[in-house]
Amino acid sequence: MLVEATPEIGAQGKAHKKVAPSGKAGPAKRKRAKPLHKELLTAAEIEARKMRAVNPAQYYRQNLGQLGFGDPEHALVQTIKELMDNSLDACEAMGVLPEVNVELTATTKKYEVVTNKTKDGSLRTFPVFKLVVEDNGCGVVKGKVAKCFGSVLYGSKFFSFKQSRGQQGLGVHAAIIYAQLTSLEPAVITTKTESDPKAFRVVLKIDTEKNSPMLVSSEEVDFPKPHGTRVELMIAGDYTQKVESFIKELSLANPHADLKFTVVAQPGQEPKVLHFERANQTLPPPPKEIKPHLLSMEPGALLEMRSNDTCCATAKQFLVRHFVRISDAKAEELLKASGLTPSSPPKEIDVEALLKAAREGDLMRPPLDVLSPIGEDALRQSIRRIYPDAEFICTASREPWSYRGVPFQIEVGAAYGGQSVIEDCERVKEGVFKSRVIRLANKCPLIYDSKDCLLYKVVKEINWRNYKLPQDEGNLPMAPLVIIVSLVSTKVPYSVPGKFAVAYHEEIREQLRLALQSLGRLIQGYISHRQRQEHEQHRQSIFQIYAKEIARDISVLTGQDQALIYGKLMESIKSKQKAKTAHKPKPEEPPLPIADSEAIPHRPEEKAEEVAKIPPPKPKKQQFTLEEYLR
Ligand SMILES: Nc1ncnc2c1ncn2[C@@H]1O[C@H](COP(=O)(O)OP(=O)(O)OP(=O)(O)O)[C@@H](O)[C@H]1O
Ligand SMILES: [Mg+2]
Repeated sequence: MLVEATPEIGAQGKAHKKVAPSGKAGPAKRKRAKPLHKELLTAAEIEARKMRAVNPAQYYRQNLGQLGFGDPEHALVQTIKELMDNSLDACEAMGVLPEVNVELTATTKKYEVVTNKTKDGSLRTFPVFKLVVEDNGCGVVKGKVAKCFGSVLYGSKFFSFKQSRGQQGLGVHAAIIYAQLTSLEPAVITTKTESDPKAFRVVLKIDTEKNSPMLVSSEEVDFPKPHGTRVELMIAGDYTQKVESFIKELSLANPHADLKFTVVAQPGQEPKVLHFERANQTLPPPPKEIKPHLLSMEPGALLEMRSNDTCCATAKQFLVRHFVRISDAKAEELLKASGLTPSSPPKEIDVEALLKAAREGDLMRPPLDVLSPIGEDALRQSIRRIYPDAEFICTASREPWSYRGVPFQIEVGAAYGGQSVIEDCERVKEGVFKSRVIRLANKCPLIYDSKDCLLYKVVKEINWRNYKLPQDEGNLPMAPLVIIVSLVSTKVPYSVPGKFAVAYHEEIREQLRLALQSLGRLIQGYISHRQRQEHEQHRQSIFQIYAKEIARDISVLTGQDQALIYGKLMESIKSKQKAKTAHKPKPEEPPLPIADSEAIPHRPEEKAEEVAKIPPPKPKKQQFTLEEYLR
């Protein structure tokens, strides 16, 4: 497309001044400026005039939905999640048992969204909440506070190859941008490190045009704990049950954490408090930092690393210093296979040939003891705490493994039956429930986008009918069952920056499938055990019905007390039942974790008690006529 040009515009966007022939600027003429010449611009040239670089703060301000801040309902949960994740990471960095206190209070301030969906008009109003999250983590040093909270993509975790909840340097920044967009209020951050005598309080907004902090104020203040951070935000939100279920799931994933949540959902309401005390006092093993594995490198990233390296004189040094599992001998072998000598400068490395040599050579997996899983015992304790009346609880885990050179580990757990489990499942119809999947990545619940998440897809892929659980093809099992799936890794392969879903990797899929099959076998063991118990209970109840009849008849025939005969018969049934259980061959016993065997209701005994409550038959005459007896 061709268009007529406007008068010539200078670089600063101002029209050039006309210069007098003498070279001096002449007296300003009042004449209207006329175009000097007509210029025709192509579409590409028009586009070129609009071109400029976008900084990450500007980008995410316009695309907050990608980070989970698209609407007030999602944004409220996401803000709490990002702040609590940071708190738990900061406690892990410090090596202390986490104590995280969250206060959410609806204020009278409102946030209005124009929509035509409401009946009453085109405006939908949401309350503005004051959110305070306080932890006992390591705190942030004074000189870094403004940057850490005021520059998007600034943080301590992106470049480290270590398991942590945060990965990108986006979370708290997105929350602060969302807060200032919806409430116009700045963030208040108070933080204290172990070595500082006083805490440091900063009030700031993010200048998204410059991606830098806009300081409102800063001062030294007192802090109630020896170290920690307190973040206060004013955000528009729509309070739903999702918030409470997120905190419950976070507590499930972090049995060693003490999480307290206080909410005032409507202004003036009584506060509601949820306190998840820690299920155990044991700190999980701290995750270790490692160097990247050669197989986890994309060729382009390796090329860039090679070009930017300034510290290594030789290619061999470059490999040994920057990558895990590469000894001197291994480096020499890889370089030889890629057509290079060990003493060549790093700049001569042919990245594609080197990666091919690494793939073909027997390069050792990364060390796998660098992860910090929840731990099966802790997971069981945690499930029991969240589902105290579950009929059966079991867990399974796999040894650590790696995908593309990145270590990861899978743990799974299940809670079956019981009112608290039923309440968490979807009720399909009377007495029929669809099971629920709780997804955890680096001990943090994934709340949205389950359908796009590998962890969820693999649960649906399993044929649960093999394990005595009803299931429609490719769906979740139809049972009162909560399945917990946990992935820990030095880099969780999220499919989106909002960290909602895990992307597909064959290695993760396979490990998860095997773990879920082990879990299925444990559940099947329990269901079989229960079916046997129910069958036995049915048999007993039949005996018991007849025992009553028989006792009456024997009493008539022998003239002995009917209640006495009934009691003896019941004793005999019970002892036979005991003998039967005692002689059961070992392998048939249900594979129940010892801790949970107490959870199985002892139904036959319960029934026996019920039967024993039947009033004893009325005393009858000792002698009968034949007519009386037959009647
Ligand atoms: N409560 C806190 N205690 C200590 N440091 C914190 C706290 N909150 C944030 N930080 C620091 O601020 C940085 C930025 O946090 P942010 O949540 O934006 O990113 P992240 O946690 O690194 O990654 P992600 O985007 O995945 O959340 C963190 O890396 C951390 O160094
Ligand atoms: Mg974070």
